[in-house]
Amino acid sequence: MLIQLTYASRTSPNIGPADIKDILQSSQRNNGILGVTGALCLANGIFLQQLEGDRQAVNQVYHRLLRDSRHTDPAILDFGEISCRRFGAWNMGLISAVPDNRQLFLKYSNTAHFDPYLMSVPTLRAFFDEVIQSVRWLS
Ligand SMILES: Cc1cc2nc3c(=O)[nH]c(=O)nc-3n(C[C@H](O)[C@H](O)[C@H](O)COP(=O)(O)O)c2cc1C
Repeated sequence: MLIQLTYASRTSPNIGPADIKDILQSSQRNNGILGVTGALCLANGIFLQQLEGDRQAVNQVYHRLLRDSRHTDPAILDFGEISCRRFGAWNMGLISAVPDNRQLFLKYSNTAHFDPYLMSVPTLRAFFDEVIQSVRWLS
C-alpha cells in the first residue's frame, strides 16, 4: 500500500551545511534501497519533509530519523494513502530558503515567516504540489 507522510521538525542548534549534506546523502542512499521518495524543505529553522512509498518502508524511515539529534519537536502533519507517487524521480530532493524560493515559502504561510506547524492539510498539499511543479527552483 502506497502512503504519504508529512512531518515538521526544528533544526537543532549548531546544525550546519555539512549536516544537511550528510542528511541528503544518507536519505538518497537509504530511501533508494527502500523505494521511498520525497522532498525535504528547510526554512526558518524548520524542516518540512514529505515521504512517500510503501507503508512499512515509510514507517521504517520515519522511525529512524526520529532518533536523529540534528532535529527536535517532530510533529506529523499529514498522513494517508495515495494513489500514485508525486516525487517518483527523487529519493530525497532539498528545497532550501534561497532568495528564489522565499516567495514560494511565503505564498503558503499565514504568518510573516514560514511555519509549517501552523499550516492546514490542504495548504501543505498545495505547497508540495507547487514544489513538484517548480523543480527549476531546486538548489
Ligand atoms: C530532517 C531529517 C530528515 C531525514 N530524512 C531521512 C530520510 O528521508 N531517509 C534516511 O534514510 N535518513 C534520513 N535522515 C537521516 C537519519 O536520521 C539517519 O541519520 C540516517 O538514516 C542514517 O543512515 P546511515 O547510517 O546510512 O548514514 C534525516 C535526518 C533529518 C534530521
